[in-house]
Amino acid sequence: MTVINETAGIALKGEIEQMAARVFEHEALRNEFYDRWTTRSLSAEEVRAFAVEYLSRTIRTSEMVALSVVNTADRTARVECVKNLYSEYGGGNPKKVHLTLLEDFLEDLLTRVSGRPVTIDELYGEPPLPSTRSFSSGQLELFSADDQRVVQGALLAQEWLAYSMMVRLYEGVRNYKHCYHSEEDFHEHCEYFYIHIGEAEKEHRIQAVESASQVCADPTDLSRVRAGFDGFLDLTVEYWRGVAARMREAGDLARGLENRAHAAAVPAARLR
Ligand SMILES: [Fe+2]
Ligand SMILES: [Fe+2]
Repeated sequence: MTVINETAGIALKGEIEQMAARVFEHEALRNEFYDRWTTRSLSAEEVRAFAVEYLSRTIRTSEMVALSVVNTADRTARVECVKNLYSEYGGGNPKKVHLTLLEDFLEDLLTRVSGRPVTIDELYGEPPLPSTRSFSSGQLELFSADDQRVVQGALLAQEWLAYSMMVRLYEGVRNYKHCYHSEEDFHEHCEYFYIHIGEAEKEHRIQAVESASQVCADPTDLSRVRAGFDGFLDLTVEYWRGVAARMREAGDLARGLENRAHAAAVPAARLR
């Protein structure tokens, strides 16, 4: 009997891993935002638009992991979620709390690309897009579901997207390397990415597969996990669509102002 159950468990874990790997082909990762972000150096206005929306989206990540602890009854699955939460809070070191590292990084990057001091409060002070707010409320709903299988599906999607997102965001950040004094200066300011790419998100992916497997004993369980997983992917697609459109707008506005300033400067120069 034990052997049959273990075999079923292994088969379902394989299906969960296959489900998770779908993120690589999904629009949640293959989209206009990542194309823009990774392929060029953007204006300060576009970087700021990204920063405001990304910050607003990310301030809830740790809370969602905390909710996954509370809303998952299975004890072994909970243990995996607790490891993830501990890592989000810097493994016990307040200076290494992931949100703190992100705030420090964004404040510094925006200051460099804008050519003037930009504070994190300034970024927090800007209202996020309706699409970002929808992402946050949808995310809260999934992680507060009274079905632990849905919660685990959402966590699986969040953690499998996170590693690839970090890799792509970091590749885009390299487009601003010229804003730093030296190679060393650049890398010293990228700790937020190195912590995630080097260890945290790799571990979170494994932990999310483990915890989702713990709440899956049959195909019905698997379909409930899939509902949470797909729900999170759909929210993410809409979130990035909103960010890309906002960045386009900010870029067009900045270019328009620049062109007008140039047009005004040319006749003045001719008069001289
Ligand atoms: Fe993190
Ligand atoms: Fe994570």
